[in-house]
Amino acid sequence: MPPTTDLDGLGLDDGGHLLVQRALQPLRPGDRLTVLGRHPALRVHLAAWCREHGHRVDETGDDGPLEIIKGPAGEQRWRDAQRAGDAQGPPDKVADPRWGLAARGALVEAGGPPIGAEWTEREHVWADVAPQLYAAAAASQWDPATAVNWTAPVAVEPEIERAVVQLMTYLVENEQAALIIPARLLSQLHPHFREVMQLLATQAADEARHVEVFTRRGLLSGGPLGTSSAGGRASLQTLLNEPDFTTASFLLSVLGEGTFLDLLRFLHRHAPDPVTADVARLAVRDEARHVAFGVAHTAHLAKTDRSYLGTLRQSVERRHAALQDTAGLNTEVFDSLVLLAAGSWEPAAISAGWRAVRDLQASMDEGRRRRLAYIGFPDDEAAELSALHTRNFM
Ligand SMILES: [Fe+2]
Ligand SMILES: [Fe+2]
Repeated sequence: MPPTTDLDGLGLDDGGHLLVQRALQPLRPGDRLTVLGRHPALRVHLAAWCREHGHRVDETGDDGPLEIIKGPAGEQRWRDAQRAGDAQGPPDKVADPRWGLAARGALVEAGGPPIGAEWTEREHVWADVAPQLYAAAAASQWDPATAVNWTAPVAVEPEIERAVVQLMTYLVENEQAALIIPARLLSQLHPHFREVMQLLATQAADEARHVEVFTRRGLLSGGPLGTSSAGGRASLQTLLNEPDFTTASFLLSVLGEGTFLDLLRFLHRHAPDPVTADVARLAVRDEARHVAFGVAHTAHLAKTDRSYLGTLRQSVERRHAALQDTAGLNTEVFDSLVLLAAGSWEPAAISAGWRAVRDLQASMDEGRRRRLAYIGFPDDEAAELSALHTRNFM
């Protein structure tokens, strides 16, 4: 006696096929299944459904119960299917482009469109700290509307306020570049490096908030905004043009955002009003994560492939050569930093402000050398490369 499934009054077009499918599942090709039911169109619908799914209805007995002979087609479809890695973690070496958009760990039917991702190799995108950094990023998102007390009074001295506005104008253009780069990197990343993709998505969201709060602080006293120099934009353009995942992450996050950690801390320390202090403090917290990923990823790659240090070195030298004839940092930005640290036009105060900015540049250099050494550069080479970093800071 073949196994039986009873659909009662259920039609195949009302979900009855689920019962048939379930009953067929344990059977081998060629096995028979008896289908009972009272639906008036059951015979016609079952014949059509079986044709579509590679089974056959036994037509020998017209009035007796319906019998299906299980066909091979249902198995065929999944015969060449492949498990897309392990849901728990990223691929060991390479994410197969043929897995495309399938969930990591899913059983992937052969024949779908491959994904056009440029970065599919683990070593070129991964850092072991990525999952923790993503979790920290997801837990640390803040609301620009409420995280800053926008009603706090701003600087009374108009020239100090102009300096703040100039610095905010400069920050916005840097943040815009810092938003575009992770967004571009993640668009070309195989989605099975999911934690890196998620981290880059939160990084882009962080930069979107930075653009917002720096713009809002810049306009708080009624505007207009300050100046944007050609040299500053040229510096950022070289970052946008960097084609490789790791060199882009290295130049942006290790060197640029690493340098910005000191800049934002400086702004926080010398902020003439609570709003400026708040926006600098909030941004530096996010930036620390961006730097942490860039450093961890670059160090990870340099550790597996020592020769990659040469590629990183070349990226710094190439960028330096491309920017050699540009002014680098906007002079209005430099002067604004001095005035902010000085706090007044007294010659003694300006002298102290000047020294504070010199100290800032020294600590930026020290931080870059430390990160470069961590990645694997000998100290003398780290010092050399740090000195070649763009005068625009980012
Ligand atoms: Fe930022
Ligand atoms: Fe950033």
